[in-house]
Amino acid sequence: MDSRGPRPAPDRAVDAFQAQWGGEAALLVRAPGRVNLIGEHTDYNEGFVLPMAIDRAVWIALRPRKERRVAVHAVDFGGTLDFGLPTIEKGGPAWGEYVKGVAWSLIEAGHRLTGWEGVVAGDVPIGAGLSSSAALEVAAARAFAAAAGLAWEPLAMARITQRAENDWVGVPCGIMDQLVSIAGVAGHALLIDCRTLEISPVPLPAGAAVVVLDTGTRRGVAASAYQERREQCRQAARFLGAASLRDVTLQDLARASTALSQTTLRRARHVVAENERTRLAAQALQRGDAIEVGLLMNASHASLKEDFEVSSPELDAIVAASRRRPDCLGARLTGAGFGGCAVALVREGDLEGFASEVRDGYRSMTGREARITVCTPAAGAEVIRV
Ligand code: GLA
Repeated sequence: MDSRGPRPAPDRAVDAFQAQWGGEAALLVRAPGRVNLIGEHTDYNEGFVLPMAIDRAVWIALRPRKERRVAVHAVDFGGTLDFGLPTIEKGGPAWGEYVKGVAWSLIEAGHRLTGWEGVVAGDVPIGAGLSSSAALEVAAARAFAAAAGLAWEPLAMARITQRAENDWVGVPCGIMDQLVSIAGVAGHALLIDCRTLEISPVPLPAGAAVVVLDTGTRRGVAASAYQERREQCRQAARFLGAASLRDVTLQDLARASTALSQTTLRRARHVVAENERTRLAAQALQRGDAIEVGLLMNASHASLKEDFEVSSPELDAIVAASRRRPDCLGARLTGAGFGGCAVALVREGDLEGFASEVRDGYRSMTGREARITVCTPAAGAEVIRV
């Protein structure tokens, strides 16, 4: 299985802080990435998702400043971001837009920010569908809140960080990634109702591991295709006179099947059925029924491939390679799709054997190397004093 490399990210952040800014960091914050077990492309339809925060995170070591300027060095990307408060402008390193976007969004929400200097380091694979950008946004929000002494209100902060991504970075994502990075519970996945933002932690079943399968491909066309899917879902809901696809049933769709275009119908069918699968999966987790969760994950992948059309040959290959193993309970693409990662629920016992067989199978099908990581469910963002 893949290891994390020579030095843990928090140590890299703390050490680089000394080298960059001199002296000790006063605070260390952590915000995890996430993997979504089921409930894909449902968050922006006010539906249900079942993600978990993972033991991969973005860390920021920081020290408050008197001056109202923010200066952040990124160990993994190189480059330093430096900007004044409260007027924030675009420009500088690409990763810096996430940090500035969060500052902008916090100010828009009425918060008074203060300056700090810091170093960011992380071990969430970038662009793999594990929410490295949400982790960076939430870590930045934690850093600003800690430096300025702001109250940490999880739901408000989820909305603020989502707005940074939507309106500053310009990616029209839903609320799932930021919310689970903030509200994650160790040992649990979270059933999130994306209409009410009600969160119900559900334990992961004993004896089963969550394995992330990185295809090594990255989602080039995802931004426009994601936007297009959102629009198709909105149109379907409007046509059916519903506020969102959350309020639509499969019977409603059957009745409208001749009036809607076949594509719109398939998109809506995925969302409506996926909401149901997600609720069933949460109930199955509560009962400790890992077999049922695996079957629902398999059905989710089929629906994402056939109806929502967000899979890719590599994602299909890695899912197929996983399912060849008898210890694989279920596997599906995770995140927006088109590339990045799949997730499998695998019976514990021979996870090394699982990883090596999937790597071999995937290589023989695609000629590519997979990265395979067992992830454990982690707690949400936190401040750690150093
Ligand atoms: C991306 C978005 C999420 C969600 C998923 C698809 O990860 O950031 O809000 O829409 O795609 O489920």
